[in-house]
Amino acid sequence: MFLNLRDVSLCCVWIISVASFRVGVSERRIVAVRGRPAVLGCEFTPDPDLSSLVVTWQRQEDSQVVHSYYYQQDNLDRQSPEYHNRTKLYISELGKGNASLRINPVGPKDAGRYLCQVSNAKGTGNAQIELDYGALYSEPRFNIHVNSTTVTVQFETEGFPKPEVIWLGEHNQNLSYHLELHNQTEDGLCYIKTSYDTQKPVVNVTFTLKNHLLNQNLQRLVFLSYVSEELERRKSKILTGFNKMLQLLFWILAESAASFINTQNDHIIAARGHPAVLGCHFTPHSDLSSLIIVWQRQEDLQVVHSFYYEQNQLDHQSPEYHNRTSLYISKLSKGNASLRIDRVGLKDIGWYLCKVKNINGNGKSEIKLDYGAFYSEPRLSIHVNSITVLVQFETEGFPEPEVIWLDEHGQSLIHHLELHAQTEDGLYLVRSIYKTQKPTVNVTFTLKNHLLNQSLERPVIFSYVSGEDGDGDGSTGIIILSLLIVILFAVVMFLPFNRKIKCYL
Ligand SMILES: *[C@@H]1O[C@H](CO)[C@@H](O)[C@H](O)[C@H]1NC(C)=O
Ligand SMILES: *[C@@H]1O[C@H](CO)[C@@H](O)[C@H](O)[C@H]1NC(C)=O
Ligand SMILES: *[C@@H]1O[C@H](CO)[C@@H](O)[C@H](O)[C@H]1NC(C)=O
Ligand SMILES: *[C@@H]1O[C@H](CO)[C@@H](O)[C@H](O)[C@H]1NC(C)=O
Ligand SMILES: *[C@@H]1O[C@H](CO)[C@@H](O)[C@H](O)[C@H]1NC(C)=O
Ligand SMILES: *[C@@H]1O[C@H](CO)[C@@H](O)[C@H](O)[C@H]1NC(C)=O
Ligand SMILES: *[C@@H]1O[C@H](CO)[C@@H](O)[C@H](O)[C@H]1NC(C)=O
Ligand SMILES: *[C@@H]1O[C@H](CO)[C@@H](O)[C@H](O)[C@H]1NC(C)=O
Ligand SMILES: *[C@@H]1O[C@H](CO)[C@@H](O)[C@H](O)[C@H]1NC(C)=O
Ligand SMILES: *[C@@H]1O[C@H](CO)[C@@H](O)[C@H](O)[C@H]1NC(C)=O
Repeated sequence: MFLNLRDVSLCCVWIISVASFRVGVSERRIVAVRGRPAVLGCEFTPDPDLSSLVVTWQRQEDSQVVHSYYYQQDNLDRQSPEYHNRTKLYISELGKGNASLRINPVGPKDAGRYLCQVSNAKGTGNAQIELDYGALYSEPRFNIHVNSTTVTVQFETEGFPKPEVIWLGEHNQNLSYHLELHNQTEDGLCYIKTSYDTQKPVVNVTFTLKNHLLNQNLQRLVFLSYVSEELERRKSKILTGFNKMLQLLFWILAESAASFINTQNDHIIAARGHPAVLGCHFTPHSDLSSLIIVWQRQEDLQVVHSFYYEQNQLDHQSPEYHNRTSLYISKLSKGNASLRIDRVGLKDIGWYLCKVKNINGNGKSEIKLDYGAFYSEPRLSIHVNSITVLVQFETEGFPEPEVIWLDEHGQSLIHHLELHAQTEDGLYLVRSIYKTQKPTVNVTFTLKNHLLNQSLERPVIFSYVSGEDGDGDGSTGIIILSLLIVILFAVVMFLPFNRKIKCYL
């Protein structure tokens, strides 16, 4: 017996197809962060026939089933209870060879090795992926205790895994400190309490906490001074003085207070005539009486808005911002310290600081405000004399635009541009002129305000015939003018285009 040619070729196709089936992971090791979904990427050689597709995700250590899919649907009967309601495949992506698994929410028990096993008509295979879990440490809560002999500086925070803690003195020397670590099993966080004791009357220490897994580095500087002789004798007085000191400590440098306070978007662009909302979010606390919010300009620290003792405090507000600022008072309890500035203008451009303090801690974040004004509908005028045709557009907006004139072949033309600052309302008057000696004009004027993504395109087609049949005085000749303006494209249109174009001859 011998194989005929057809059998041999079929056999080879089978071998090739088996050899070419592949299951792979996008990353061998991923770090899942508390509060964000984890996506375990897994890809395989796809096959259009989904009926034979089987996808199983398992824990490698104990083979417990994390998720499984066959008969063209999720089959979770054998799913480990640990993963109930937390896993998902991207069903629509399976046909493209994407067997990635999403786990949400993630917890410390999810750390470990996972196996992505896939089989379909083309073959069977698996790939391994390792998942690490971390939680960013919360904004450290700062405490200071004083008795007649000792000052204790203490920070408390929660995160995962165990961090590195460093206390440095004034000369960057390592200080000895106390450290308490507890596993909070219910939410899988590691609770940390660390303190530094000193008998000295001046405290100048830097507390650093590093979560190496998540590249988190919190650094807090504490400076405190008091007169120690009095401490023994007039303890009560010192303590009230000390309360004042605590107020001063509000400006402990909060270098990376990202976990306590943040801005969603650190650059916002406000358009003339619209209010600007500067976003700022902090870890809220139900007790509003301790809440202090200060919005300042970064450049000169002028006060834009402030809030404490449970109300707006505008005595120190810069006159520039009078009657134009507001906080969303009802949202403060939800940690929203966003500031609204009405009637934004040129002078509002710059960096803003949002400083917040409450029982949970304190911090600041920065946000940049840019300002722009959409260019108004360009006003067209055409001036003709015996030799020259002059086409001009005028418009107002902010900031300086890009202006281009193109001829009918798309070549850019030389033009004249005037920019006049209209200081009273902070707009530029832009006048752009194209001059030609030709009797016909077929050009496109384009103006772009890149800041606001505004693009205006105005084609102009114009021609004239001069009648020089009289006594040669061109100006008395009859000029026939036909003018066609087509609006091809206006990304932002404010005015209905109903102006009449007047041609004065
Ligand atoms: C699979 O699909 C999901 C959802 O669209 C996507 O986030 C992920 O990057 C894809 N993974 C791969 C390996 O293509
Ligand atoms: C899963 O979710 C469903 C509906 O959302 C709910 O009825 C069920 O109790 C949940 N199961 C578990 C184990 O959380
Ligand atoms: C002062 O506080 C320190 C540390 O908290 C403690 O060790 C010491 O006994 C206290 N001294 C007095 C007199 O209470
Ligand atoms: C505290 O110590 C740092 C050096 O670690 C020094 O730069 C800073 O000036 C000190 N602060 C005060 C108020 O003495
Ligand atoms: C302080 O301790 C850390 C480790 O905890 C070490 O890396 C560092 O070099 C030490 N610094 C000094 C000045 O001893
Ligand atoms: C906390 O949990 C980790 C594992 O999650 C374990 O290695 C460590 O020994 C525990 N520490 C304490 C103090 O229970
Ligand atoms: C704060 O509240 C305002 C008003 O409802 C909203 O526009 C803004 O998006 C909120 N900001 C944050 C950071 O949640
Ligand atoms: C602020 O607004 C109030 C009422 O709307 C008005 O009486 C007051 O003059 C305004 N102040 C400024 C500085 O514009
Ligand atoms: C003007 O130029 C455009 C190309 O930019 C062309 O399509 C159009 O036909 C021209 N119109 C006239 C009247 O020449
Ligand atoms: C700018 O506008 C274009 C066209 O409308 C749009 O495709 C693009 O996404 C916009 N870009 C931004 C940054 O808004």
